[in-house]
Amino acid sequence: MKKFINKIAVLTSGGDAPGMNAALRAVIRAAAFYKIECAGVYRGYQGLIEGDFVKMDARSVHHIIQKGGTILKSARSDEFRTIEGRKKAYNQIVDNEIDALVIIGGDGTFTGGMIFQKEFDFPVVGIPGTIDNDIYGTDFTIGYDTALNTAVEVIDKIRDTASSHNRLFFVEVMGRDAGFIALNSGLGAGAEEILIPEENLGLDRLLNSLEQSRRSGKTSSIVVVAEGEKSGKNVYELASYVEENLPQYEVRVSVLGHMQRGGAPSCFDRVLASRMGVKAVELLLDGQSDLMVGINNNKMVTVELEKAIKEHHSINKEILRISEILTT
Ligand code: F6P
Repeated sequence: MKKFINKIAVLTSGGDAPGMNAALRAVIRAAAFYKIECAGVYRGYQGLIEGDFVKMDARSVHHIIQKGGTILKSARSDEFRTIEGRKKAYNQIVDNEIDALVIIGGDGTFTGGMIFQKEFDFPVVGIPGTIDNDIYGTDFTIGYDTALNTAVEVIDKIRDTASSHNRLFFVEVMGRDAGFIALNSGLGAGAEEILIPEENLGLDRLLNSLEQSRRSGKTSSIVVVAEGEKSGKNVYELASYVEENLPQYEVRVSVLGHMQRGGAPSCFDRVLASRMGVKAVELLLDGQSDLMVGINNNKMVTVELEKAIKEHHSINKEILRISEILTT
């Protein structure tokens, strides 16, 4: 049954991503445009449980489109994983007369939102915000483009010093379960090898390829490694393994870490977040729920939250092939 929406709440949850603020701005301004009230929830689901709300209007979100992080803060809530925690959250929602919820985050955020929606028959719409780009049902998640550009900028700098000292660098980028950042930053920065969780090509192949590079006259090399890569060795162990087996190489390791999650969002992420934020509010006003907003071939689309969580967003293996051709 279509529920009348007077007031929505919005939260950011899980790992933050550049562009989350632009998405918040879009949700809150769209709410103002359609003359409904909007509450911001601090610290994700934990703030929902504790009733940590702030009234937000169009002016509350001025000059945040360009800011990294999330003004509402983010958190991972163990309490929300329990039925008792979710009941507390629902009571807060009833007490504060909230009619629908917009959740911005990754698959953990959507799992919580989907369970909550089903348990209390409460309208929920998700916006994908994670640098990992590992969400099914959207070509891009908010923050991925910015993180990718951050990674490329840093790998370019590492390339300078690698080349000056004739060294081999292992550069670890984020991606616990997905190789999107590694694959695309690796190609964009001209890495000699790219190691991703989706494709375990084996250590022998890595050694052969590096040896071949050296023989072909390359004096320095960069291997981009996704943190969730599946060789069974972490980036430091990989570096030692290569140094032991190819002693001609002087090897160094650089772990980019959380710098990839910060910084001003790219224009692409700002535009994506703006489109997704407006779409999320319009879906709720249209009586729709249990959906994630996505983008496919530059068109706004929706996918059921359950599908977004359960299905796999596959990497484009063509990029691996291209990278191999271009590093000969
Ligand atoms: O935002 C996703 C992600 O960047 C993963 O790639 C990474 O493993 C994880 O977050 C680390 O997050 P945290 O330090 O917040 O646990």
